[in-house]
This record gives sequence, C-alpha cells and structure tokens, in this order.
Amino acid sequence: MLALQDLVALDAAVTHAFSTGDASGLEVLGYGEISAVVACVSGGQSWACKRLPPFPGRADADRYSALFDEYLATLQARGVKVVPSMLQRLARDDGSVVIYCVQPLLLAERLAVQILKRSSELEARALFEAVCGRIIAAVSPQVGIDGQLSNWVVDGDDVAMLDVTTPMLKDAAGRNRLDMELFLAAVPPPVRPLFRRYVVPSVVDKYHDPRGVTVDLIANLTKEGLESHIGPFLQIANRRLSQPIDAVEVRRYYAGDARVWTAWQALRRCDRFVRLNLLGQPYPFLLPGRIERHAAAGVNSGQRDGEQVDE
Ligand SMILES: Nc1ncnc2c1ncn2[C@@H]1O[C@H](COP(=O)(O)OP(=O)(O)O)[C@@H](O)[C@H]1O
Ligand SMILES: [Mg+2]
Repeated sequence: MLALQDLVALDAAVTHAFSTGDASGLEVLGYGEISAVVACVSGGQSWACKRLPPFPGRADADRYSALFDEYLATLQARGVKVVPSMLQRLARDDGSVVIYCVQPLLLAERLAVQILKRSSELEARALFEAVCGRIIAAVSPQVGIDGQLSNWVVDGDDVAMLDVTTPMLKDAAGRNRLDMELFLAAVPPPVRPLFRRYVVPSVVDKYHDPRGVTVDLIANLTKEGLESHIGPFLQIANRRLSQPIDAVEVRRYYAGDARVWTAWQALRRCDRFVRLNLLGQPYPFLLPGRIERHAAAGVNSGQRDGEQVDE
C-alpha cells in the first residue's frame, strides 16, 4: 500500500499528464484498452498503480469496491490465484472519487508474456496448460475473465491474474453487476451509444464463455510476437473444449481485433484532442504513444502490419 503522501504525489503527476497529454514524467509499465499502469516507490517498496476511470461520488466508489472484493474472492474460490491487489482512494473537493488499484511491482521476468518469449516448447506447454486450466475452471455465465496472456504472472508451478479491475460478474438473470457506464467514460461521447448497445455486450459475453476467452487469448499471442505458440496451444485448448477452435478462426479473429483496436485508439486520440485543445478540459486517460502490433501471418502481407502511431 502507498503512503498517503506518495499517493497524492503520484496522482498529481498523473493528473498533470491528463491535462497536458504528456506522460513523460511517469514510468508507465503497460497500457491496456482503457487504463495505464504506472510504477511508484513508497515505503522503500515498488508498486504498480492503475488509476481507474473517475467515480462521480462516494456511493459509486463504494459499490465498485464491494464488487471488486467479491470478484477477487470469487476468482480465488474458483481456483484462480490473484496478485495481491488493493484499492486506495482520494476524495476530490467536488465530491468525486479517484481510485487506484495498487499491487506490488512484479519483476518483468515473472510476467507470462516475458516467460513465454524465452521458454522451451515444453515449458511453454506447461504454462499454457496452467492458464487454460484456470480459465476453463473459473469462467461461467456468472463469472468473466479477460484471459489474455498479458494479464497473467507465473507463480511457482501455477499462474496468477494481475488484471482484476474489471469485475465481470453477472447476476442469475444474466445482467452485468458492474456499472458499465464507469468504463464507458473512456469512450468518446458521440460513439458511446454504439458502444453501450453493441460493443460492451459482445466483449463482456465473450469473456463469460471459456471458449471465447481462449480464442481471444490464443489470437492475441500474435500481438505479443508469440504466434509460433498458436499451433501447440490450440491442441491443448481443444483437448479441454467441447467445440474445438481452429487456426483459421484464430487468424480471422485477430485481424478483426487488430482493426477494432486501431480504430479505438484513433477515436480516443481524437477525443483527447477535442477535450484538451478545443474544450480546454483534461483528458482523464493515458494513451500509448507508439504502438507496435504484430500482424497475423497471412492476414496482412508483412511480418508486422506497420501500425505505428507517433504522438
Ligand atoms: N503489478 C504489476 N507489476 C508489473 N507490471 C504490471 C503490474 N500490473 C500490470 N503490469 C503491466 O501493465 C500491463 C497492463 O496492466 P493490466 O492490469 O493488464 O491493465 P489493463 O486493464 O490496462 O489491461 C500488464 O500487462 C503488465 O505488463
Ligand atoms: Mg490487461
């Protein structure tokens, strides 16, 4: 946990980055679809801190915190280890609440993506068996997981999840218990209705289906430059799934995902431009500067799809 003064200082630096669009004063550990994770030292220890989308008031923050705790407990009860994670809050004068999810900073060599880059075929299989087993045991119509490789860390013979800030839990009637409006704040206002109606339900439903989570995980190995593992991983996954996945489906999925991701980042950059330069408002997210995303072999022509964006 961060000392309060360190949290306040970190938040000042993050807020500065939001109002200038310049994150050079921060040590960003990773960018996801919505948030970025920033390193911070406090009490002689290093931490990884993710600022969540802003909460309008205390009641929203309380509801989110309770669901977050329930999600962590649910994952653990279903056999998925979770990286120690705690929420730390800062109350704003206007009544809104900022929440950071704080975790110990994990050594890069423990991250599943890094491990896979230098593992033998045998080690890679063992790692994937662990991830795949955890996904299939935990995911259900009520419990969703984003199982992409970037969200796992190796913990002895097992794996643990590090990306736990989207508590994907549904009630018995199939309704999301998480208030998706919080995360829709990351979507530019003109396209928000479209996302609310189509994108959110399809993404969330995919993450509540073990097969959907697995397709997403295997397809996105390409993004990490790990596509040589796709064949062996499909074999492992297909031993466990009732409806097998094939390489064509994975390639098609990745090509679609890469297009959506590019469009999504372009949209967010427009939104940031409008808010910072035309409306004079801060843009409350950090966006990646230069993106390298590996292309699916056979989908685009080259090894890389050349999707590189400079600020
Ligand atoms: N505790 C941590 N220690 C080290 N790196 C981390 C930690 N948490 C996240 N990261 C890095 O930041 C990336 C994004 O974090 P994640 O929680 O998956 O956020 P997102 O919701 O944006 O996907 C991770 O894939 C990882 O590389
Ligand atoms: Mg993630």
